[in-house]
Amino acid sequence: MSSGAIVRLGTLNSVGRFQGHLQSLGLHIPCDPDIAVGGQSPLRSPLHRGPFKIGNRIAVQPMEGWDATSDGAPSEKTVRRWQRFGRSGGKLIWGGEAVAVSHEGRANPNQLLAAPRTQKNLTHLRDVLRREHIQTTGSDDGLVIGLQLTHSGRYCRPNEHSRPEPRILYHHPVLDQRLKLPADYPLLTDAEIESIIEGFHRAAFMAWQSGFDFVDIKHCHGYLGHEFLSAHTREGRYGGSFENRTRFLREVVQGIRSLAPGLHIGVRLSAIDTVPFHSDPSQSVNGKSAIGIAEIRPDSLPYRWGFGVNPLDPTDSDLSEPESFLSLLEELGIQLVNITAGSPYYNPHIQRPALFPPTDGYEPPEDPLVGVWRMIDATSRIKSCYPHLAITGTGYSYLQEWLPHVAQHYVRTGQVDFVGLGRLVLAYPDFAHDVLRGAPLDTKRLCRTFSDCTTGPRNGLVSGCFPLDPFYKAHPQAELVRIAKQKFKAGP
Ligand SMILES: Cc1cc2nc3c(=O)[nH]c(=O)nc-3n(C[C@H](O)[C@H](O)[C@H](O)COP(=O)(O)O)c2cc1C
Ligand code: SF4
Repeated sequence: MSSGAIVRLGTLNSVGRFQGHLQSLGLHIPCDPDIAVGGQSPLRSPLHRGPFKIGNRIAVQPMEGWDATSDGAPSEKTVRRWQRFGRSGGKLIWGGEAVAVSHEGRANPNQLLAAPRTQKNLTHLRDVLRREHIQTTGSDDGLVIGLQLTHSGRYCRPNEHSRPEPRILYHHPVLDQRLKLPADYPLLTDAEIESIIEGFHRAAFMAWQSGFDFVDIKHCHGYLGHEFLSAHTREGRYGGSFENRTRFLREVVQGIRSLAPGLHIGVRLSAIDTVPFHSDPSQSVNGKSAIGIAEIRPDSLPYRWGFGVNPLDPTDSDLSEPESFLSLLEELGIQLVNITAGSPYYNPHIQRPALFPPTDGYEPPEDPLVGVWRMIDATSRIKSCYPHLAITGTGYSYLQEWLPHVAQHYVRTGQVDFVGLGRLVLAYPDFAHDVLRGAPLDTKRLCRTFSDCTTGPRNGLVSGCFPLDPFYKAHPQAELVRIAKQKFKAGP
């Protein structure tokens, strides 16, 4: 499907037309025709869970900027992003951005690092966010701030942008090839895993001392926590059975509970997935990007390298194991859960639905609204089985003008607790604040999913909303992002 054939949502000038368009695509995404204001607004109603009162139903998703210093401390750009997260008006700050628990576990040489030398900087990030939030909304009542902790596993590049240094749990028939890993590339040993787990304990202790309300033990997007869940083919204590594949989570949680008893824990989970996609080689002329197709070897069924996928038809999702995982979270007393999908590396169209692909991607294989529906429908099904979990949903930015209508419907009907906003916050940070106070939307600032914020980092540059944020429009790297996009369109 070329992006030219996809109806642009900004051209639909009423909710009725938007609904008609959904019908024409055969998609069931109900939405409220009017947005309530004041005390009647479902999006403004606080949610009480355990010790938390979370002041409204907007969550800011974690988003990194590839802009920390080489020793893992925030730069001015990082601080600016966290200020803008605070200005959003969202009361649940889901993790800020991915923070590596060790240098070797960084996804890029400019990822934040939780280390004794950076602890005061992380505290500063939390403080500037809170100050900005108070300045914008008048109060920090009900503001809950988490820190997302991660190890990037297969996607580690700690030292140079151009040098992957993957730390893998098992050999994957497609992803190993993409990283050019030989058949005897070493797997992380159980002893190395134990030391990574200790890294999570130390990082969580620091987050607790820095005053964060919770840490997110990241289990999504193809990074290490997520890879554990699909380690069916791994031998030993951390692979094979469901019990072994979730040992990492249990050991991380156990250590955090004993070191930082007052700290709460959340988990961001890729609850659904599909196989890796790539640009269809048979459609590509002169190496230009083509439509994405599933890359699956005929001898790989039943599929043993996924989590949340149907092993007999791995292009389709299957919630049975993710549901067991959510039951485990309940048993462990974890209530804060953020549902996402897939990975930005191997199937970006399901992870961040977009009209325009990033330069390591492919043309959309489906209308991006299908991707939005896939995530919000899975989240709604999960919420109906786990009513006591406080669930944040993902994938709303593509809805643009219609986001408040869909968001209000799903929160009002109890199908999600928090509407998570990702790219939209980079483009238009005060979007939620405008919706919550009944101000008209500034449609010129809505994220139109140009993917420049993903293209930047894929080309060793910083991330930011190059098309719409005046700071990044004028940034010296804006021209390099433009050149990278031109090359991608033209082919090598
Ligand atoms: C520039 C950028 C950085 C991101 N960084 C993170 C991250 O650090 N941790 C994470 O869990 N997700 C990260 N994501 C994914 C977002 O949190 C979110 O899941 C995704 O953008 C889809 O939501 P949206 O449609 O509202 O943008 C990032 C996304 C973008 C565009
Ligand atoms: S660069 Fe800006 S408009 Fe494009 S996807 Fe990212 S946030 Fe949205």
